[in-house]
Amino acid sequence: MDCRLYRKKINLHVETRFIASLFHLPSHKNMKPTILVTGGTGYIGSHTAVELLNEGYEVIIVDNLCNSKKWIADRIERITNKKPSLHIFDLCNESELHSMLSLSTNIKAVIHFAALKAVGESVEKPLEYYSNNIGSLINVLKQMKEFNINNIVFSSSCTVHGQPEKLPVTELSPILKANSPYGNTKQICEEIITDTEKTFPELKSIILRYFNPIGAHPSALIGELPQGVPNNLLPYITQTAAGKRKELSVYGNDYNTIDGTCIRDYIDVVDLAKAHVIALNRLLNNQTLTNIETFSLGTGKGISVLEIINSFEKANNIKIPYKIVDRRAGDVEQIWADTTKANQILGWKAQIPLIDTLKNAWNWEKTILE
Ligand code: NAD
Ligand code: WQD
Repeated sequence: MDCRLYRKKINLHVETRFIASLFHLPSHKNMKPTILVTGGTGYIGSHTAVELLNEGYEVIIVDNLCNSKKWIADRIERITNKKPSLHIFDLCNESELHSMLSLSTNIKAVIHFAALKAVGESVEKPLEYYSNNIGSLINVLKQMKEFNINNIVFSSSCTVHGQPEKLPVTELSPILKANSPYGNTKQICEEIITDTEKTFPELKSIILRYFNPIGAHPSALIGELPQGVPNNLLPYITQTAAGKRKELSVYGNDYNTIDGTCIRDYIDVVDLAKAHVIALNRLLNNQTLTNIETFSLGTGKGISVLEIINSFEKANNIKIPYKIVDRRAGDVEQIWADTTKANQILGWKAQIPLIDTLKNAWNWEKTILE
């Protein structure tokens, strides 16, 4: 090789590594690829960052902390003994994302968790939900194209199916009209990925439709951090157990189910996080059968609200005061996943027993009190 060219190449390499070290961005020598985890200080993102670091991936988190805390990144480091690189900015900001990616050398995939997720709030603030959830995805996809990052795992939701006529729900179950702006953003984002792939054929995507994620890391160092009064069942139960809430309201016991209360498919957040690593490996190893693959992630088992309360009481030896109240507007009666495709094609299965999940949820809640 021409000597000057060689020197130039070496200089460039040293420069890249120097700049990368300044910004705590990993340079790419002898390393597993780097994964950009958007929303990585959030509930599911933080658990996934842990699993990625445990698997030897480098992790860059981008989060604007609108629904999470900076110290979650330290907790991720405490669990894994590895430091994720944290960048605090809004993904709707195109130039910030562009600058960050310009300084990163080895990002091979994005796991896109960042979104606003409260169904009720989305009815109050539809424009915020549309602009945040759709705007951030559009930005991420544009920059992925520019920086030749060709793999994305996208967080979708079983909510895209509404109340399905046929249970359990498969990946081919109809997408029904969304009953909230939040649900609609998930449908639109799935469509955006489908349309983008037509003009960005290198793009490989795995869409994961989560059912009801619950629980916390067994270390009790990370878990769900609801702001204000929780909307979701499990945080309401743990806060009631902790005495922060007087009693739980059970929304309706006149549904056509075993005990009259609604049925959901509750999936442990660590099982869910592991599914992301498997999906990511599938993308990076070019194992996908089509450019976009979709998987339903649940346990495959429907559980009623009263069953969850009873199991929580048994798991933790605590009584949960509750009363039956009217149905909550917009609730579907019952939904659970057919996990055959995830089991057979991803080779993933939920494994953590519900009792352990409920113990972990309570152990996490107790640490929030301290
Ligand atoms: P979360 O709110 O705990 O995490 C989302 C993270 O994204 C937060 O840390 C938030 O600060 C960040 N964020 C939001 N908008 C951002 C932006 N514009 N720029 C940068 N950061 C931003 O939520 P979660 O429960 O971890 O959910 C993760 C993903 O999974 C979301 O897309 C959600 O819609 C989806 N999902 C969640 C559930 C559930 O019940 N938790 C179920 C199905 C799908
Ligand atoms: C579960 C069950 C309630 C609270 C939501 C989103 C969905 C997805 C998952 C993101 C229901 C009952 C609840 C309470 C209760 N998220 N309940 N008392 O509604 O299945 O789904 O989270 O994509 O889009 O809508 O979850 O935890 O709110 O409710 O009786 O105080 O618990 O009626 O039957 P949901 P949830």
